[in-house]
Amino acid sequence: MSVRALIVDPSASESVRLAEVPEPVAGAGQVLVEVHHASLNHGDLNDARSGRVPPGAVLGSDAAGVVVRAAEDGTGPAVGTRVVALTSGAFAERAAVDVGALAPVPDPVDLAVAAALPVAGLAALRSLRAAGLAAGKRVLVTGASGGVGRFAVQLAAHAGAHVIASVGSAARGAGLAEAGADEVLIGLAGLDRPVDIVIDNVGGPQLVEAWALLAPGGSAQSVGWTSGQPAVFPPYATIGPAKSLTSFVNEGEFGPDLGVLVQRVAEGTLAAQIGWRGSWERVAEAAGVLRGRRVNGKAVLDIGTIGTIGTTGTQS
Ligand SMILES: NC(=O)c1ccc[n+]([C@@H]2O[C@H](COP(=O)([O-])OP(=O)(O)OC[C@H]3O[C@@H](n4cnc5c(N)ncnc54)[C@H](OP(=O)(O)O)[C@@H]3O)[C@@H](O)[C@H]2O)c1
Repeated sequence: MSVRALIVDPSASESVRLAEVPEPVAGAGQVLVEVHHASLNHGDLNDARSGRVPPGAVLGSDAAGVVVRAAEDGTGPAVGTRVVALTSGAFAERAAVDVGALAPVPDPVDLAVAAALPVAGLAALRSLRAAGLAAGKRVLVTGASGGVGRFAVQLAAHAGAHVIASVGSAARGAGLAEAGADEVLIGLAGLDRPVDIVIDNVGGPQLVEAWALLAPGGSAQSVGWTSGQPAVFPPYATIGPAKSLTSFVNEGEFGPDLGVLVQRVAEGTLAAQIGWRGSWERVAEAAGVLRGRRVNGKAVLDIGTIGTIGTTGTQS
């Protein structure tokens, strides 16, 4: 049996196109998920262009849908369970998913919202945790208008931190104050008091500026590098009282923290701000707006025929 999927094709627009592929086979410790929604990440686009996901392979990382075949070893959720997952091959009508890489989605949470969570939500949650997030800390989030940034702002604000959201323009900052940001800045202009934590999504010169603002004992987490520019530290910028710049990557078992994120959504303390939504047939358009810094929050793809209800629908 075959399923439709978005596969890597270097000759296609954004190096991705719809194709028929063999239905994935769930191996040991895996369930088969009927994918209803997925979200698009910079990492997916980089994977398609760099060859990390090879030509012909199914692209995608963030998926939400329904289990249609349980794991043969009896682990994981039963058939019919709504789940969210961080998995390779997410952009397909069906995906084989490790039971440790998914979490059940509580009833009140829309699957399209759940699909927005994995890569960006885990990066926000885990980088803040690694940085020692606590009430009263001053947290700077760069690229706060994007997927990781909007989750990080909300999570830090909910923890009682003082949150400074840095964006590229006033329009890009829309909704961030409501999401919990105490200050919304264009770039880092006007920020003259030190911060305890930096969640950096931008890299380049902004990372150098953010480093200079980091207080002794502080932690800067290098999550992303959307600027694509080099970071040039002036002489002696790294000399002084101890503070750290740490590399970050989503790795390990994702299920438990995905459970934390969907629970927060169910409780109403975390919202997925979906700035673009449409059929997966419009993936090239989604990639263009994401790259063009025109998505406030997440871009969500409705997969197959199940979710093709236009850009404003909420059904899943
Ligand atoms: N390490 C990991 O495991 C991990 C996990 C998730 C994401 N990431 C990475 O983290 C980064 C953010 O991901 P995301 O999903 O939040 O992406 P996103 O939704 O596109 O947001 C990125 C933000 O960066 C800013 N930006 C984009 N291009 C820029 C440029 N040329 N100069 C300055 N700022 C720019 C934009 O804000 P403005 O338009 O407001 O300036 C944009 O909102 C990406 O590089 C992604 O690959 C890494």
